[in-house]
Amino acid sequence: MTGKFEPKTPVVLNPPKDDPITLEELAKANGVDSDKCYVAIKGKVYDVTGNKAYLPGASYHVFAGKDASRALGKTSTKEEDAVADWSVLTDAEKKVLDDWVTFFSKRYNVVGVVAGATNME
Ligand code: HEM
Repeated sequence: MTGKFEPKTPVVLNPPKDDPITLEELAKANGVDSDKCYVAIKGKVYDVTGNKAYLPGASYHVFAGKDASRALGKTSTKEEDAVADWSVLTDAEKKVLDDWVTFFSKRYNVVGVVAGATNME
């Protein structure tokens, strides 16, 4: 039996890093201002570089360079939802958010943590 949200092709990941990444650095890693493209969820920064879905014009660019926890929990691609604070989510939405954490953690390297992130739990 395989677990939930397994990638179709196995992904070999590096050990997760916990270097602090400032909001400014995160914002730059949006696939436009830098070659790097990061998406943070619940304060952990995932390196999504190489996935076109996060580049300008693509479906999930709204999440690039941000902690997009709230939007992921709400299954929303609205700009105003692409913020870190997930405390407003319902229990069902929090479960969806945790499923996204599982999805990302099986595909993308954690390259750091958002400096000064609150709402870590
Ligand atoms: C018409 C609506 C939508 C369709 C048809 C759709 C379709 C898809 C498909 C086919 C994938 C690829 C799945 C995979 O690689 O296993 C995907 C990935 C994804 N979707 Fe959607 N989606 C929709 C709406 C949304 C919305 C509203 C959100 C907001 C949270 C969302 C967030 C994501 C994310 C974060 C990924 C993962 C991309 C990655 O890193 O590989 N999707 N979607």
